[in-house]
Amino acid sequence: MSKKFHAIAIDGPAGAGKSTMAKRIAKELGYVYVDTGAIYRTVGYYVWLCGIGGRDVDGVTRLIDEVNISIEYPEDGLQHMILNGKDVTGEIRTPEMSSYASQVSAHKCVRDFLLDTQRELARTHNVVMDGRDIGTVVLPDAEVKIFLTASPEVRARRRYIELQEKGVSDSYEKVLADMKQRDLQDSTRPIAPLKQAKDAVLLDTSSMTLEESVEAIKSIVEEKLAK
Ligand code: DC
Repeated sequence: MSKKFHAIAIDGPAGAGKSTMAKRIAKELGYVYVDTGAIYRTVGYYVWLCGIGGRDVDGVTRLIDEVNISIEYPEDGLQHMILNGKDVTGEIRTPEMSSYASQVSAHKCVRDFLLDTQRELARTHNVVMDGRDIGTVVLPDAEVKIFLTASPEVRARRRYIELQEKGVSDSYEKVLADMKQRDLQDSTRPIAPLKQAKDAVLLDTSSMTLEESVEAIKSIVEEKLAK
């Protein structure tokens, strides 16, 4: 008899706080947190390493079979991304890799390549998975679906502070422009675009503190899982 695992899908645009929220909920429930953006970033990083442009569909298609990705969850609580045997968890977090991830994620070969990996994790674990198409495409039967958003200015401000803390000196204006460009790319691509699933609960955290957002998500999750 197969055991039924629970799935919580959190989708939304860049900088909406998906990973912070998803991590907190996963910890409280004892579920595995799956950051699907990190998987796309890892593919983007490989394409970049090979000197191929992210929009070059032929180049990316040629490379995709060389990509071997595994995900590890060591004690530090971080989701470690292993690309062809090397830990690239830090390397994929730059603004350039955000842009590469968004570009390569538009290609069908990349989405097809990663779909099974994501579904397999949900087949074998209780998961909180965040991304762009989790509620719509990857896990359409997830018991809880949340579409997390905030105004572009609020999201850019949060991302700007995060980057500053990491020593990246991009201006707020650049962070905002990059974010708008990425949202446009992610929501207008033909395959699995960023959009709210019909049965997802919309949560706009523009005027909420972090703790208020966590509480709001917790009450959505509790209500849905109780059904
Ligand atoms: O969540 P993130 O910012 O780390 O994601 C990086 C890019 O990966 C994002 O701009 C689009 C792509 N992505 C996707 O297409 N589908 C997902 N489920 C997650 C991320």
